[in-house]
Amino acid sequence: MSLRHIITLPDPKLRLVSKPLERIDAALTKLIDDMIHTMHDAPGIGLAAIQIAEPIRLLVVDVARKEDPPAPQVFVNPEILWRSDERSIYEEGCLSIPEYYAEVERPASIRVRALDRDGVSREVLADGLLATVLQHEIDHLDGVLFIDHISKLKRDRVIKKFQKASKRSGEGSHVL
Ligand code: NI
Repeated sequence: MSLRHIITLPDPKLRLVSKPLERIDAALTKLIDDMIHTMHDAPGIGLAAIQIAEPIRLLVVDVARKEDPPAPQVFVNPEILWRSDERSIYEEGCLSIPEYYAEVERPASIRVRALDRDGVSREVLADGLLATVLQHEIDHLDGVLFIDHISKLKRDRVIKKFQKASKRSGEGSHVL
């Protein structure tokens, strides 16, 4: 397993719409293992393939509590089949927007269909944190970030901050 580099704002790849996967082969299984390793190392509770610059419809999540053993789940070509009218609010963050958090309101429960790492189709009825994480990660596959769900004023402020930081690091700092 290897750690993969997580891309961050303002990398334009974060806005790509990822492509469905045709088949699950050995290379993909290796990528899935790398993603789980990278997510746990970060640490994060969800990671979409585009965050490691792979524009494919694949994501991993792990919502196990810290005191419990890790329980990663793999979703290939996930589709949201149903969303509840009831909504819930969570404070969200994103490994591609480090150190920024904001409250986001989303449907409280969803039903998702996806292939697992063996290519088997399954449906998951998710609520609570899992529902939020899955919606956040599926958004990534469509080039949508959680800051797209907050006010334009707040969003513009975050984007500007990351643009400035990236300009600074391109200007004279030396990464050794
Ligand atoms: Ni994210």
